[in-house]
Amino acid sequence: MATASASAPGKLMLFGEHAVIYGRPAIVTAVNQRITVELAARREGIRLTSPSLGIKNEEIKLGANSYSKDVRFVAQTLALFSSQFGNPGGMDILIHSEFKKTYGFGSSSAVTVALASALCKKTAVKLSEKELFDFCYSVVLSVQGVGSGFDIAAAIWGGTLYFVGGGKQIIPLKTSSLPLVVGYTGVKADTPAIVREVRRLVAKRKEWANRLFSQIKSVVEQAKTALENEDMYALGGLMNQNQAFLVKLGVSSPQLDRLISASINAGAYGAKLSGAGKGDCMIALVEEKNRPRVEEAIRSAGGEILNVKLNAEGVK
Ligand code: PMV
Repeated sequence: MATASASAPGKLMLFGEHAVIYGRPAIVTAVNQRITVELAARREGIRLTSPSLGIKNEEIKLGANSYSKDVRFVAQTLALFSSQFGNPGGMDILIHSEFKKTYGFGSSSAVTVALASALCKKTAVKLSEKELFDFCYSVVLSVQGVGSGFDIAAAIWGGTLYFVGGGKQIIPLKTSSLPLVVGYTGVKADTPAIVREVRRLVAKRKEWANRLFSQIKSVVEQAKTALENEDMYALGGLMNQNQAFLVKLGVSSPQLDRLISASINAGAYGAKLSGAGKGDCMIALVEEKNRPRVEEAIRSAGGEILNVKLNAEGVK
């Protein structure tokens, strides 16, 4: 029987990817597919089981860092928790995921948030949402070195958020439903590698990149208003503008371009990549009556339709 459990949602970036690493805002939404972590007390040692990662009863040693990337988030959450809040004791950890880690829905951040919350429950440590954010963001930075923390914010607060890098501003936005179609390219993006590639480009072309990021910022600010007004025409146009800037930044890909054009040709209001780019998912904003046509067009162009709802609840 679980002594403590918590679940956290995955996410989709709606606007502002990459620019958010350089101090500009982004808009992110939580999706209704979650990762659940259950902790059961055991006399000593820590054992991890995760069917979706193909892991059964793997021993986790605090402080060791020879783990695969997926397990590193778990090991690092445990190590930092232990050093900041005291040793949480022996336990069996069971992780269950409703989505494949290849989709780019932020499985590492959802695992980190769900595990940290379950550990807080197990040890009666009380953290505010912002304290939980700071803790989980420090885990992400220590494992992968880069990242704005938007995925951690989505996993904690849920809903749709206006987010400024590192959690400087986290503002929940009021939106009821967003009729999005999500198309998976079939290609797994390596986010830290793409973020580093963009960093090299920014170092070479500082002024150009700064102008581009400021243009993306302007799109994000307009998108915030359009979202609050539920103005789908405006939002679609802004998605297309954001996509054009991401193409200039060099982070789109032939697969993404194909799925995006197919959705626009089938009548979407607008479409763009979501996340680091070069793979993972694209999103298209559609009028409900056009949804079947747009989905079919994306499938015919080689994409897989992922059925997710947005604005999902944060960690619980
Ligand atoms: O690839 P994803 O879905 O984790 O999104 C990355 C978004 C970036 O802005 C490129 C990086 C970040 O941490 O904000």
